[in-house]
Amino acid sequence: MTALCRRIAGPHAIVLLIGALGAGVAVAGSGRLDGAAVFKARCARCHGESGKTDTAAARALKVRPLVDDAKLAQMALADIAKAIKADAKHQRVDSVVDLDDADLGAVAVFVKELAKKR
Ligand code: HEC
Repeated sequence: MTALCRRIAGPHAIVLLIGALGAGVAVAGSGRLDGAAVFKARCARCHGESGKTDTAAARALKVRPLVDDAKLAQMALADIAKAIKADAKHQRVDSVVDLDDADLGAVAVFVKELAKKR
């Protein structure tokens, strides 16, 4: 390989690697953003995988179920995303504070679907 090739290939390889790592976290293997996977990884320990507050942690925290929540169900996705970030109970929860915009958007869609369920 010539020096020129190395100069071109080097940085690109790093960018690709970082891209692949990022995608692995966000996409969880499905090939697209998956709100359910984000929820399971970042939210379920408190809200329950089903959103029904069916975990010991959720009961201890007295979390309201996300399922069958008429207020959430009619909110715009952007407002649900804001509400997730702004919730007073989330301010010291790393798995919420660290959410990037793509995962936040995906999980907002999932939360809205949960809220419409009974
Ligand atoms: C450490 C526990 C914990 C984690 C992790 C957590 N939450 Fe919460 N969440 C709470 C608590 C406690 C409340 C306040 C519940 C209440 O007021 O009834 C809350 C409130 C909410 C609300 C508002 C509910 C409503 O009816 O207004 C939404 C939406 C929500 N969480 C979504 C999420 C999402 C999405 C995630 C993951 C990205 C997440 N939460 C992660 C504990 C947690």
